[in-house]
This record gives sequence, structure tokens and C-alpha cells, in this order.
Amino acid sequence: MSKRAVVTGVGHYLPDRVVPNSEFEKTLDTTDEWIKTRSGIERRHFAAEGQTTSDLAIRAAQAALENAGIGADQIDGIVVATSTPDLTFPSVGTMVQRGLGMEHGFAFDVQAVCAGFIYALTTANSMLLSGQAQRLLVIGAETFSRIMDWTDRSTCVLFGDGAGALVLEAQDGKGDNTDRGILAADLNSDGRYREMLFVDGGVSTNGESGKLRMQGNALFRQAVDKLAGTAFTALKKIGLEDDDVDWIVPHQANIRIIQGTARKMGIPMDRVIVTVQDHGNTSAASIPLALSVGVSSGKIKRGDLLLSEAIGGGLAWGSVVLRW
Ligand code: UT7
Repeated sequence: MSKRAVVTGVGHYLPDRVVPNSEFEKTLDTTDEWIKTRSGIERRHFAAEGQTTSDLAIRAAQAALENAGIGADQIDGIVVATSTPDLTFPSVGTMVQRGLGMEHGFAFDVQAVCAGFIYALTTANSMLLSGQAQRLLVIGAETFSRIMDWTDRSTCVLFGDGAGALVLEAQDGKGDNTDRGILAADLNSDGRYREMLFVDGGVSTNGESGKLRMQGNALFRQAVDKLAGTAFTALKKIGLEDDDVDWIVPHQANIRIIQGTARKMGIPMDRVIVTVQDHGNTSAASIPLALSVGVSSGKIKRGDLLLSEAIGGGLAWGSVVLRW
């Protein structure tokens, strides 16, 4: 018998304001057609003025707790993946803790940009397997609209705001790949690629929060190989193959990257959860958002084998194999 980190609840929150591609046609030399064909994005949500990342994270956490049928008093800790925190410190995690009325447990943030949720899940998994905690909230939450350069058409049309959350619980498993829960993970980073995707500000450089800068095409060329590679590595760790995967639940940066990765894995698109058209790229929030949408739409069912993969600034990339 061995411990497994099993998902017992999932939820998400998207800000009310929906911005269609056509909005950008008013201020930029761009078209709905270009954005749709190059990225698959049709609309995205933007947080309201004054609405922060922790506000979104709290709403997603509440939805996940409700879905799990438990209260915040039954959670031992909170792990938040974000690159757009409310403040430099304290962590968004502690703000969520306060927002949920928790006066116990621990909370912290993980920062691995678009791969953040994969890193957060892997961290939470280790804590549950080691006995550090019995039940954790794992949240991906972002307000990337706050770090857009609204004059840069090559980036500002791609990103959106939102949050998704999971409740993860340590349960007994058999120790083989038929168990429910997180079965394997693979993490990677390579700091030599820093210039491909970064924010040009920070506490110890210029004291500003900065704007997102991306060499989209260069990153695009890295993405498919690295994503298919990490997926293969994670599956292999637990003796599974591409064909065993019921659903790919990928990071939602670009439909062409999603399609290219699925093709490389030999998995048809009707076994991929796609939300990029509605959410844009929400960085660390995109995978838990897609999981939540995948479950509420009735596609993802108990016992399904899921493969999530993501790549982003760092570069940092990785994958998690999870039986729902
Ligand atoms: O989540 C983190 C990871 N992020 C990613 O993985 C993003 C990876 N990259 C991408 O998704 C794609 O590279 C983009 C969607 C960013 C761009 O697509 P692309 O097919 O790689 O286009 P490109 O950058 O090669 O640009 C093609 C043309 C350029 O014009 P020229 O130089 O060919 O005349 C751009 O200036 O498209 C132009 N362009 C635009 N045109 C209209 C760039 N942005 C726009 C725009 N509207 N918004």
C-alpha cells in the first residue's frame, strides 16, 4: 500500500468582464482573424479595477471546497501558483488563507510562470506523500492583464485573467498505475532561455512591476518538442504510454501548440480539453481552469487518466500524470 494525492474537489472563477478579439481592433493594428488563426483565442476575461489575484484565488478555492463538500477548517495548507501576486509580499497564499477565514495551517506561493500549476501540484504531492499534510488546496491564479504592454500587439492579445483550484487529499492506494491520484510528475527548467519570456521589471532591478516581453515565435518552436518530451517522460515513470491517456489537459497558450503536442503524442483532438478560445493564456491558472471546465462539462470522469503539461518563462516546463 502507498499514499496517493487524490483530487477530491475542483472549481474555478473567471472575472465578469469578457473581452472579445474585436476590442483590440479599435486600438491596435490587428484583427480578430489574425488572433483566432494564430492562437485560437476568441475572447478572454479581465479582472475589474481593484480586483486582485487573491480575490480570484479565493473565489476558485471556495468553489473547489464546495465541490469537495468540505470547509476550509479541514484544509492543512494552501499552495498558490502565480506570477502576478497582489503585492511583492506577503504571498497570495496567505491572503487566500485569510480570505477563507483560516487561522491554522500554512500557505505559500510557487512561481514557475505558465508551468506554475505543474510545479505547485508536484510540490503539494510531495507534501502529501511525506505526511506533511493530509489535505491541501492547490490554486493557480493570475491577473496577467496587469503586466500587459497595451501597445504591443504581439503579446497583449494573448493573455487573460482567472483562477482554478483543486482539493488534494492523501489517500491509500495500491501503489500501481491503476490508483487514483497523482501517479507521476516531471519538472524541467533551463535559465539560458530567459530572454524568450520575461517581465522587464522587478523589486531588485528597477523597483517596478514591469511588462511582459515575449519572443513568441522562438518560444513556439521550443514548445511542442519540450511538451511532448516531458509528457513521455512522466508517463514512462509509471509504466504508461501515450495511448493510455484519456484526456490531455494542457496549458492553454496557443491552439497550434496544443494540436502539435497532441499530434506528436498520437492523441486525437477529441481527447484534449481546450479552453484557450474562451480564456486566452491565463498562465498558471490555465490548467486548473481547464480541469474545472472539463469536469463540469461532463468530459472528465472519475477514473480517467489525465496528462497535464505546460511550458513558460524560465524556461520552465513539466507534466503531471493524474488519475481523476
Ligand atoms: O504561456 C507561455 C508560453 N507562451 C507560448 O507558448 C506562446 C508561444 N508563441 C505563440 O503562441 C505564437 O508564436 C504567437 C501567437 C505569439 C505568434 O504567432 P506566430 O505564428 O509565431 O507569429 P509571428 O510572431 O511569427 O508573427 C507573424 C507576423 C509578424 O509580422 P511580419 O514580421 O511577418 O510582418 C508579426 O509582426 O504577425 C505579426 N503580428 C501580428 N499581426 C496582427 C504579431 N502580432 C500580431 C497581431 N495582429 N496581434
